[in-house]
Amino acid sequence: MLKIKNVSRIFGEGDAKVVALNNISLQVNSGDFIAIMGPSGSGKSTLLNIIGGLERISSGEVLLEEQRVDNLDENALVSIRRGKIAYVFQQYHLLPSLTALENVLLPLVFCGINGQDKKALDILKSVGLEKRAQHKPSQLSGGEQQRVAIARALVNDPVLLLADEPTGNMDQQTGQDILGLFDQLNKEGKTIIMVTHDQAVARHARETVLLRDGQIIDRIYHDHKGGSNR
Ligand SMILES: Nc1ncnc2c1ncn2[C@@H]1O[C@H](COP(=O)(O)OP(=O)(O)OP(=O)(O)O)[C@@H](O)[C@H]1O
Ligand SMILES: [Mg+2]
Repeated sequence: MLKIKNVSRIFGEGDAKVVALNNISLQVNSGDFIAIMGPSGSGKSTLLNIIGGLERISSGEVLLEEQRVDNLDENALVSIRRGKIAYVFQQYHLLPSLTALENVLLPLVFCGINGQDKKALDILKSVGLEKRAQHKPSQLSGGEQQRVAIARALVNDPVLLLADEPTGNMDQQTGQDILGLFDQLNKEGKTIIMVTHDQAVARHARETVLLRDGQIIDRIYHDHKGGSNR
């Protein structure tokens, strides 16, 4: 579904030059659940942002469903992202003045689609928040806010869900609930790429891609048979 071919990303020049990604190649197949790990500054967010079309590459190619997306203009990128790729951040980035339901509806409203309250409510239900639909973010716990953010990410039926430290702001139990949701979404066929610092979090994925200094230095496959290591 996604092919990253020999991608580099260089910031700045001269003394300020930083090679954030150094000739990375990675193929992501439909139904994959990949964790990206690595030390701070190793290029994890840069890689995720490139996949999400939030960041340009310096060289290489990015293909989404066999289509080159690295050389598209801003407008084309936005429409691809809206349709196919959804993002969940460590800071939930909900709009504080809107209710949970309105936040979930937002991506549809941006696309000019109205009257989908039932769909949004169903998704809120699937993340266990149907009783919180009319609450504002300030009235919700961190885990609940992240579940709203995940519901919002899902409302456009994306083929690819990207998450940068989605449980980074949570206590362990709340993080486990969010990861349970990711497990469920992946079982239902959603492709997920998640950045994390936490090995226990990464083990929810099927595979960990380990970055160091902008390069992939290892790929570790997680055996989930019997669920013993989840
Ligand atoms: N806009 C930018 N301008 C210049 N350098 C940047 C920019 N964005 C990232 N970098 C540099 O690129 C490198 C990789 O950054 P990136 O944010 O991808 O790291 P990361 O692995 O996500 O780190 P962390 O775990 O701290 O979030 C870092 O050295 C960073 O300083
Ligand atoms: Mg980062």
